[in-house]
Amino acid sequence: MSKLYPVNPTFAAAARLRHDDYTRLYAESVSDPEGFWGRVAQRLDWIKPPTKIKDVSFDPTDLHIRWYADGELNVSANCLDRQLATRGDKVAIIFEGDDPNDSRRITYRELHTEVCKFANTLKNLGVIKGDRIAIYLPMIPEAAVAMLACARLGAIHSVVFGGFSPDSLAGRIADSTAKVVITADEGLRAGKRIPLKVNVDAALERPGTNSVETVIVVRRTGSAVAMQSPRDRYYHTLMEGQSADCAPTPVEAEHPLFILYTSGSTGKPKGVQHSTGGYLVFTSYTHELVFDLREDDIYWCTADVGWVTGHSYVVYGPLANGATTVMFEGVPNYPDVSRFWQVIDKHQVTLFYTAPTAIRALMRDGEAPVKACSRASLRLLGSVGEPINPEAWEWYHRVVGDERCPIVDTWWQTETGGIMISPLPGAIATKPGSATLPFFGIKPAIVDANAEVQEGVAEGNLLITDSWPGQVRTIYGDHQRFIDTYFSAYPGNYFTGDGARRDEDGYYWITGRVDDVINVSGHRLGTAEVESALVAHPKVAEAAVVGCPHEIKGQGIYAYVTLIAGETGTDELRKELIAWVRKEIGPIATPDYLQWAPGLPKTRSGKIMRRILRKIGENLPDQLGDITTLADPGVVKNLVDERLIK
Ligand code: WT7
Repeated sequence: MSKLYPVNPTFAAAARLRHDDYTRLYAESVSDPEGFWGRVAQRLDWIKPPTKIKDVSFDPTDLHIRWYADGELNVSANCLDRQLATRGDKVAIIFEGDDPNDSRRITYRELHTEVCKFANTLKNLGVIKGDRIAIYLPMIPEAAVAMLACARLGAIHSVVFGGFSPDSLAGRIADSTAKVVITADEGLRAGKRIPLKVNVDAALERPGTNSVETVIVVRRTGSAVAMQSPRDRYYHTLMEGQSADCAPTPVEAEHPLFILYTSGSTGKPKGVQHSTGGYLVFTSYTHELVFDLREDDIYWCTADVGWVTGHSYVVYGPLANGATTVMFEGVPNYPDVSRFWQVIDKHQVTLFYTAPTAIRALMRDGEAPVKACSRASLRLLGSVGEPINPEAWEWYHRVVGDERCPIVDTWWQTETGGIMISPLPGAIATKPGSATLPFFGIKPAIVDANAEVQEGVAEGNLLITDSWPGQVRTIYGDHQRFIDTYFSAYPGNYFTGDGARRDEDGYYWITGRVDDVINVSGHRLGTAEVESALVAHPKVAEAAVVGCPHEIKGQGIYAYVTLIAGETGTDELRKELIAWVRKEIGPIATPDYLQWAPGLPKTRSGKIMRRILRKIGENLPDQLGDITTLADPGVVKNLVDERLIK
């Protein structure tokens, strides 16, 4: 029996929704989705209000997902212009730099001005509705400005996490044929400089990137960087003399707001394409209810804008709600391991949303660095990105939240746009490790190995049986891959790629990915991507990559490598290969373990049996299951004997 934490009565007394509200609204939302989501859509300013609400088919032969299709709106007008009347002087963004002495407060009026000027800048460079713009920036306010300026023009942004390598950036630029890249001279993390402009220069030498006409460089550190004329332009010079008047371009609700690349089980990263209207309805609504947002809240989500959490819950959801959102450039342990709690005290943060990996890392340093700060402003804590283990949940609750703050463990994905399964803090009792119950309009289902939908207590693959407004609309440039990936395994349903258990109270417990995707520190990585980076090395003949348990990261990366004939697996070569992967993809893909494999376990048809490799990586050599179907069962003994985790 898992522990049940009842709703905090003091919190519930003032909360937006209580338990009976949840029950009533959930029932309404699934029995009459059109009526429900039609009403919710009124929270936005529409240039042309929608009359059609939902037009969806999950049938793979006739797949289409349209919400509010005849409506027109502009996201930047919703996040900025409409706030000016009542919130012009309210702080929209609190920027907290890597250096604790560096912070800035930007009001809605100031942000509006900056976005209009930058939208005019882009317009002068020839950017029009539908163009793709790559954003490769650190966590600085200009990242939000760039996103909102694209939205103002109806240009589609593609934010690429600043930790990705030139090759990864190049792949994303090429796939989206971006016209402009927006970057900075350098990023700053834990006092170290990240050579963003150098990386952009290297990326643009790769084949397939010549769609890029202009590179805009924000001065962050002020270091001298090579500027190639006429391609490269400084942000601050382009902004000089720009008009602060820029009418928002009305776009159809289904017009793409952005593309965000994410890893799948096969091939290169997929460009997850999100809509304008449905996305903003869903992110703003979930943000308001899951965090029980109040006018005077100071809300801090620690995610980078390079990930979907940064899109939905640092920028779009909070700004559409007129909230004050903190943008943090730094890391949890710089200058010291109290940094999160210092920032909470400094800015009087009330709502705090972070990832289990950060909590686990900070737990190792004990309670003193937390207790050194007051944290009295906090009233709610959130978790996102990976399953939170009950020990970390309890510590977050007891030590960080002083047992006062409800915890919302929010399950969702890049593809879902926003939060899907989560407690509502004044309504739903929590259990450490469970994301609890579905949000309004979300219909989860669990299927067994025969694809039969299970009722009641069950465990199996997690599907969503009907659409919601924030859902991914397609894979950019590859609609067939979209259908194949999400709608073919269980026709008529969206397949999440996750496994889940539903308990006797109907609570969901996400058990992790059931495909070849691993989750390293809350970041999603395809094992196939790491494998193709490894085999690109001249000394590697073959490679197989699996996830393995990791105390801090949740999952680590375990690689099995077969060298070409004549090469020996030395410690030097191991280091070289690990550094190679880091350079090819980025530091997040650094293998934790690399084992030499004279042979890999394969079926007679030549398919690598990852199930076996996973068990060896998990140090469970007694649970390999049936290995008699292998072409050469003999290879397994060597791998078991030489395994790196014992
Ligand atoms: C995968 C999605 C959610 C935005 C950030 C990650 C895992 C995410 C939880 C949670 C258990 C979680 C799932 C999911 N995941 N949140 N609260 N509990 N697992 O987005 O990179 O698209 O990764 O992260 O496995 O499929 P993403």
